[in-house]
Amino acid sequence: MKTYRIGVIGLGQRIAHVLAAMVEVGWRLEVAGQADPAPVGAPILAQAGIPMGRDFESPEALLAAGPYDLVMVGSPNHLHFAHINAALDAGWPVFAEKPIVRTEEESLALAARLAKGPETQGGGPPLFIGLVMRSMPIVREVIRRLDAGELGELVSVDATEHLPAEHGGYLARNWRRRQAWGGSYLLDKVCHDFDIFGRLAGARPAKIASFGGRRIFTAERAETAPRTWDTGEAAYMFDPGWMGANDAFQSDMDVTDHQSALIEYENHVRLSFHANSHVGLPERRWYLAGTEGALIADLVRNRLMVRRALSRAKPERIDFGERTEDAHNGADQAMARDLLATLETGAAFPVTPFDSLEAGLTVMAIDRAMETGEMLDCRPMWARYDAALGR
Ligand SMILES: NC(=O)c1ccc[n+]([C@@H]2O[C@H](COP(=O)([O-])OP(=O)(O)OC[C@H]3O[C@@H](n4cnc5c(N)ncnc54)[C@H](O)[C@@H]3O)[C@@H](O)[C@H]2O)c1
Repeated sequence: MKTYRIGVIGLGQRIAHVLAAMVEVGWRLEVAGQADPAPVGAPILAQAGIPMGRDFESPEALLAAGPYDLVMVGSPNHLHFAHINAALDAGWPVFAEKPIVRTEEESLALAARLAKGPETQGGGPPLFIGLVMRSMPIVREVIRRLDAGELGELVSVDATEHLPAEHGGYLARNWRRRQAWGGSYLLDKVCHDFDIFGRLAGARPAKIASFGGRRIFTAERAETAPRTWDTGEAAYMFDPGWMGANDAFQSDMDVTDHQSALIEYENHVRLSFHANSHVGLPERRWYLAGTEGALIADLVRNRLMVRRALSRAKPERIDFGERTEDAHNGADQAMARDLLATLETGAAFPVTPFDSLEAGLTVMAIDRAMETGEMLDCRPMWARYDAALGR
């Protein structure tokens, strides 16, 4: 294996963790340089024993100092569009973090570029998106079981993501608290899940309703909300990073802290989703109900349970183990292996930029349905997307 020469735009916590996972699974790599005004990921990289490389004053300066075997984009979400386009213009293979972009306008513009461009037609630099759940063994098994017909036809899905309190506090203080930087709570946090739901449903959303708001991290609760754990430690005390706010309750946060959504897919698969960013009982769980069987994927405990509807036997349980502190449960390492296999052997990466765009547009539609308070007909949005693709 050659030593991969890597350039990084936005060396935050995420790219530092991904680089550490890459080294852990056997990549030979050198971070040749990075462009980041204040790299939040520096200590993580140092802990992994990976030198940061040259400090470039701008992404343009970094890109001009190629060649690179991979340019990794890990900037806040509002910068992805510019950084991905610049990296593709420079002609180096690109790995960019999710969500691929932040707005519908950016999604359509990137879709148009990718539909025409060599990136997806062969010959040009490829674009890989870090929708890391696609690489998780448990998620692969869910997809495999459904595709193998073990549940019959998928009828309905119930899904959740409930975050531990400190994670919610982080979102309320980090750049993700602002739509202008992060997009929305759901776009940043669960575009992963909606990517998989679209794959499982095998169709695009047709109609969406959503309700959500801010009832946890509010100025009204600033005085009364508990700020100490029952063990005596102070809560919400962490470095909030780039553009961080001082206080989780008194910031300029304009995204939701809890939200629910109902979706009917074009093929009449129905899905309900519930997310809360500050709970005592964390959960990320997908309940898939098919005509002939049901499956529960517990993504926090990394466990799967399956049983046919007409079975009186005990449910089949699979424990995937590999539980890690970051709740990614080995996903980063699995994605690092997938990416290496793609670059070394040409094996297909588990998710395409188009899957990523559709997942993003789905979540943006959920947010639009919430803002209008009306049920959203998704057809005009998909017509705009298909037009951008030249279909
Ligand atoms: N796949 C996953 O599971 C996962 C997990 C966490 C984050 N992410 C994604 O990774 C990305 C980064 O998130 P993070 O948690 O690492 O955030 P972070 O705040 O730790 O890092 C963001 C970095 O971008 C830098 N930055 C700001 N402006 C910049 C500019 N103009 N040019 C270059 N760099 C700039 C900041 O200084 C910071 O170091 C986001 O898109 C996020 O959604 C993905």
